[in-house]
Amino acid sequence: MSSDIEDLRREIDIVDVISEYLNLERVGSNYRTNCPFHPDRTPSFYVSPSKQIFKCFGCGVGGDAIKFVSLYENISYFEAALEIAKKYGKTLDLKKTSKNERIFIAIDKASDFYRESLLRNEKVAEYLKDRGIDGKTVKKFGLGFAPSSEELVKFLQKDGFLEDYLKTKNLIKLGEKAYRDLFSRRIVIPIRDPKGRVIGFGGRRLKDDNTPKYVNSPDSEVFKKGKNLFAIYESKDYIREDGYAILVEGYFDVLKLFSEGIRNVVAPLGTALTYEQAELLSKYTKKVYILYDGDDAGRKAMKSTIPHLLKAGLEVYPVYLPEGYDPDEFVREFGKESLKELINSSPELFEYLINTARENIKEKTKEFKFYLSFVPDEVKSLALLEEFAIKNKVPRDVLKNYNKSKNLDRTDKTKTNNLRFKEKLLVKGLLLFHPKIDVNKLKLRKEVKDLCINAIEGREDEIPKEILEYKCSNIESIFPKILNEFLNNSEDSKRKNV
Ligand code: CTP
Ligand code: MN
Repeated sequence: MSSDIEDLRREIDIVDVISEYLNLERVGSNYRTNCPFHPDRTPSFYVSPSKQIFKCFGCGVGGDAIKFVSLYENISYFEAALEIAKKYGKTLDLKKTSKNERIFIAIDKASDFYRESLLRNEKVAEYLKDRGIDGKTVKKFGLGFAPSSEELVKFLQKDGFLEDYLKTKNLIKLGEKAYRDLFSRRIVIPIRDPKGRVIGFGGRRLKDDNTPKYVNSPDSEVFKKGKNLFAIYESKDYIREDGYAILVEGYFDVLKLFSEGIRNVVAPLGTALTYEQAELLSKYTKKVYILYDGDDAGRKAMKSTIPHLLKAGLEVYPVYLPEGYDPDEFVREFGKESLKELINSSPELFEYLINTARENIKEKTKEFKFYLSFVPDEVKSLALLEEFAIKNKVPRDVLKNYNKSKNLDRTDKTKTNNLRFKEKLLVKGLLLFHPKIDVNKLKLRKEVKDLCINAIEGREDEIPKEILEYKCSNIESIFPKILNEFLNNSEDSKRKNV
């Protein structure tokens, strides 16, 4: 949803804005200077014009141009937006600010609060150090510590963001003046969307007591566990650079590998990986190494994760850790070079199955057929089938009757392969024009009907991206015709039934 603040953010240039306050020195494609927010003898404060953000590698503070002004002048985010708008000769109508915008600012404030509280808490810093998480990683991720619920409430109230923050369900109102912060007394791990905005948190207990090891932000208007990946923002440049991603199970696996300089790493968010997460990852690479824990749970999780990755068109490389080790423990015991060797020597899934099938032909054929049924590229799956048949002297017929259609036919909201062109246009039109019609009056296939209801009700996040992004210049004139066709179809069919 567009708002005045978003427009402003697009129109201003962070280098211009910050240059009004600080002397920036150019380094490569970025700018740097001494950080104004902590005693800084070396220039640790960086400004990125391409990302339109600032970040201090000394104290961890960072954000967009508006946030810089708000911190520097010690005014609220909205006051800062007003001030910048004035300088740029724009008028801002804050009533137009979308409500989610306020929630995101509230989360960002909580994140800053936690981060600063960690700086004051030596015991937590000690814990992280003991676990081999280096200072650079602590700052890159903006790790924090949650003190008492009361302190967070007081902090949010001061800026008038308490009500907004309650919508995240990270903080629960228990009574008149009583609140409970889900993360209280825990190490707080911020979760960012690919644009770098904090959308939720994971919280780890400090001591092995009988509380859950982790607590995660609940799903809410602004946070969906199944649609985001931990560390995607922090790792995406490295994933592109290295040409592959490493998928691990845990937050601390990611943090430890980052500390070791292995930074093309992501993890799911406390649940099994979903198809949508696989699809998100596939935007950055086509190759993924799965580095799950070396235990039964890890191997089981790997088996249920691979189909999603294949469906998203990814090339999959399972990596098997020795029994009892997770990536964090493996690196701590054998070092990062051993981990790199293990990764580099792990073959691609189908290559492995093809080359080892003879050891246990029945089992491997079954496994091969199972995974093959998730490969969406027909040419590729036929080529693999050929190779398996020839190398292992298995008749093609035995391999062919795999259940492809069943496995690929998902009523998956994010794929449009199975939608006809006119159906896509119909959904697009409903989304754009919200006509007052009864969807039951249209003759539709079940999966299209669900999409149409979501479109009419404006639930954009349930609509496939392809439809959202599809540009059709004459949709205003086409849409009524298409709508009519679907209406008439239904009347035809009724008549036939009579
Ligand atoms: N997890 C969770 N809730 C729990 C336990 C685990 O959400 N009670 C999720 C977390 O995302 C965690 C991941 O599952 O990171 C893997 O769990 P585990 O291996 O137990 O955690 P690690 O990240 O390895 O943490 P640590 O190294 O501190 O044990
Ligand atoms: Mn683990």
